[in-house]
Formats: sequence, structure tokens, C-alpha cells
Amino acid sequence: MTKWTRAHTNIALIKYWGKENEQLIIPKNNSLSLTLDAFYTDTQVDFDDSLSEDLLILDGVEQDTASLKKVQRVLNEVRRQAGIESKARVESINHVPTAAGLASSASGLAALAGAASYAAGLSLNKEELSKLARIGSGSACRSIFGGFAEWVKGTDHDSSFAVPVDDAKWDIGMLFIVVNDAKKEVSSREGMKRTVETSPFYEGWLQSLDADLSAIKEAIKGKSVEKVGEIAERNALKMHATTLGANPPFTYWTSESMKAMDAVRELRKRGFTAYFTMDAGPNVKVICRQSELEQIKYYLLTSFSESQLIEAKPGPGLYLLD
Ligand code: DP6
Repeated sequence: MTKWTRAHTNIALIKYWGKENEQLIIPKNNSLSLTLDAFYTDTQVDFDDSLSEDLLILDGVEQDTASLKKVQRVLNEVRRQAGIESKARVESINHVPTAAGLASSASGLAALAGAASYAAGLSLNKEELSKLARIGSGSACRSIFGGFAEWVKGTDHDSSFAVPVDDAKWDIGMLFIVVNDAKKEVSSREGMKRTVETSPFYEGWLQSLDADLSAIKEAIKGKSVEKVGEIAERNALKMHATTLGANPPFTYWTSESMKAMDAVRELRKRGFTAYFTMDAGPNVKVICRQSELEQIKYYLLTSFSESQLIEAKPGPGLYLLD
């Protein structure tokens, strides 16, 4: 029994940054994200007795054992729940508009949770799918849902999963400014671990989160792009500030990221509702009104090329393809 399953990526407006339990991927704080239509992963899984090893084929290319690690955590949990031992063939296709390194583990691991549980004959509800995706990659647990979702941190495997917050069927959108950079990356997994362990700013980050979360939920209720953007931008800046205090220190920002952030501030001066957020890489995401996406893109074309600018609207949660 195999079926293609689709999950869209999500971008956190209140960031997940730090684990309480690394093995189970239980976070230090709740996070809140918006699932987007622009990037998604299609995955199908086949549990096959004739296989001697798990196989991962990504965009037609067989992956090495290192890339299989996150995938196998999900597969092992599915095998445990279904009481099967067969190895799996996982086929995944990332749909990303440019070859800009935006492929996301969030959509990938969420699609895998859906496809693998289906293939094993489990019928899991969204909460269970969210937990399953979480053990592959934390942020993936939010991609089970469309629109805004909150990952409630919980204390153990059964209490840590995402819940839907709002369908986002209103005038909010996002524009990705893709910054190409050759600099070696610190993965989000490594970056958050180092920050938790060594940054004196980490405590300050944690202390300010409850206020950010309740404020953004109010703003979402009021459908205020302005307030959502303002809170998300501040939250992102705080998260990125923690990395500068780490030992050894690091940053995901490049001069191109700074240029993009300045461009967003300039958009605000020109009267647009535009705020930025950034994750564990140099790309900048602009939070704005869907109805202003075109004009904002037009302005940004004065500093960036067409291929660097990708428009996104709120996207759906996980679903099986016919
Ligand atoms: C900065 O979910 O990639 O994007 O749980 O270790 O797989 P692991 O980390 P991951 O971290 C995402 C961090 C972030 C913020 C966010 O998405 O909330």
C-alpha cells in the first residue's frame, strides 16, 4: 500500500530554538508558524520484505546513510507502531521554484510521516502525525497543519505536537529573498545546541517568549499583518542575537541578508506593511499583505533579481494525493 503524500514547508514567526530533550526533540519553547504554498515535498514509501536496507531516493538520486538518519527515526517509529520489520524504500521529490537551497526538512519529514504511516497501514490522526514528524525534525511537526500552527512544547513524546491556530485565509503573504552564499553553514540542529549550551543570551531569549506568543496570537485573531509582522521581526532578531553570544560565536547573516533587511525597512518607510524574518541560513523572508506582494516584489527588483524573489501565500496541511 503506497500513496504519494504532500506536505508544505512552514516558516516560524515565533522561532523554535533549543531542545529540552535532544533524543525525543522536545523543544525549550513553544513556536508558531505559517505554512506556505510555494515549497512542498511529495513522498511515497513502500515497506518491502525483499529490501535489506532502508533506501532514500531524493529527486531521483539515492542518498547516503548520513541523510537517512532523520528519515530512519520516523521509519523506526512507524515500524514499532505497526509491528512490522520490513525495510522501506522512500521516494521524495522536493518542489522548490529555484535551485537555491531552500529545500526544507520541515516539508520533507512531514510528508514522510504521512506516507510512511499510510504505507504501514496505520491510520493516525493529525496529532499523532505531528508527533511522528517531530521526531524526524522539530519544525516538521507544524507542517501537518495549514495556515498558522503552534507547536506546544510538552514534556514528553506524547505531549509535544503542533495544533492549528488559524487557517490564514486572509490578506497575509510572504516573499522570499533568496540570498546565495558560499559560506559554510552551521545546521539549525548544531546551531541551537551550541546556543543553548554556551550563549549567555539564551536565558533572555527564553524569558521573552511567552509575551511574544500571546501577543502574536492576539494579532492573528485580529488579522493584523502589521502586528504579526512586527512581533515576528522582533522575535527573529532576538533569536539571531543569541548566536552572537555563543562559543564559538556564529551568525547566519551575510552582507546580502543585511541588504535585504534594509530593503524591508525601506519598504516600510514607503508605506508598505513589510517585516522580515530569518532562519538558520542567510535568506530573508518578508511578511506582508498578499494584496501587496506584486508591488513589493516590483520594488525589490531594483536591488535583487527576479530569480531571487519568490512569492508565497498561506498553504494547506498534509494530504494524500489521488
Ligand atoms: C530556525 O526543525 O530544522 O528554522 O529539530 O534539529 O531538526 P531539528 O531542527 P529544525 O530547526 C528549525 C529552526 C528554525 C526555527 C523554526 O523553524 O522554528
